[in-house]
Amino acid sequence: MKDSYGRTIDYLRLSVTDLCNLRCMYCMPEKGVHKKEHKDILSVEEIEEIVSAAVDLGVTKVRVTGGEPLVRRGIVEICRRIGAIPGVEKLCMTTNGVLLKKYAGELFDAGVTRLNVSLDTLDPEKYTQLTRMGTLEDVLSGIDEAFRVGFDEIKINTVLIGGVNDNEIRDIAALTKDRAIHVRFIELMPIGECADWGPERFISNERVLEVLPGLEEAGVSGVARIYRLPGHRGTVGLISPISSHFCPSCNRIRVTADGRLKPCLHSAEEINLRGLHGEELRDAISRAVYGKPRRHHLDEEKSKSARNMNEIGG
Ligand code: GTP
Ligand code: 5AD
Ligand code: SF4
Repeated sequence: MKDSYGRTIDYLRLSVTDLCNLRCMYCMPEKGVHKKEHKDILSVEEIEEIVSAAVDLGVTKVRVTGGEPLVRRGIVEICRRIGAIPGVEKLCMTTNGVLLKKYAGELFDAGVTRLNVSLDTLDPEKYTQLTRMGTLEDVLSGIDEAFRVGFDEIKINTVLIGGVNDNEIRDIAALTKDRAIHVRFIELMPIGECADWGPERFISNERVLEVLPGLEEAGVSGVARIYRLPGHRGTVGLISPISSHFCPSCNRIRVTADGRLKPCLHSAEEINLRGLHGEELRDAISRAVYGKPRRHHLDEEKSKSARNMNEIGG
């Protein structure tokens, strides 16, 4: 499936809930969000139908996101059903890791092939402040459990925030030393909760290269430029949506938990997929892909997305 700029779209990011068991300051409103009624979120069957239609059109990789996907009731069954759709080659999940200790084994058995865990600090107190409620140890033990049950590598997503965790670059990168942990430092994008934060909060990934001059280039993987510290088992990736946006190689579309297709993370455009079936559903997806914008303009303005990050899943 190609868009009007010739980009091949083969990656679907599917948000299964906008709820979360954390309230990260840059993502979730402090008071949380209203729980949508059951009828307002996609059922397992609808999810299956939408993913199948996307696969018919060329999608081969599906990432389950949230909010926090592991708070969605029936998440293991959702993963199992997606994983069973012929043509889904990679089934991935991005999670905050808080419930991973409980779910890692079931997810692995259900066919999830890759886990990305969001972790912005290694300081227990700071973790609780930043997430407004989380316990660092839950995430660390969740990561251990994921390795134990058979995931052979894990990506850690760290959003760098000035004055909060930019003093931890070295410590977080050190997670890559002995295990196949791939840390990705992410530039904070001005969307939703953090759209109006001051410039001092936004840290360019150039800072990582300054703090870690020993990083050796190791190619590109998806949206990340990959580096490695000499002798380390895992890698350090830089995801730089602001300082060097990767829109020209964008390969993804998103579907929200209430069944709207977002051709671009940062545009306001949404296409309702609910109630569509078969040819109609495939048509709606193809048209949306064809209309995918060329790029975002976060260097000049804030995100045009009508939604907070917890509704999109990153
Ligand atoms: P891999 O499949 O492992 O490469 O993961 P991923 O980087 O596609 O997904 P993940 O959910 O781990 O997202 C990592 C970071 O990249 C998050 O901060 C996302 O918000 C951001 N991100 C993912 N896709 C896009 C995109 O299309 N545009 C922008 N600007 N940021 C994105
Ligand atoms: N900018 C960059 N990354 C963000 N994430 C959430 N909000 C933002 C933002 N404003 C990240 C989370 C998670 C991933 C899905 O998106 O930390 O790792
Ligand atoms: Fe929850 Fe993820 Fe948002 Fe944090 S970034 S509040 S973990 S959805």
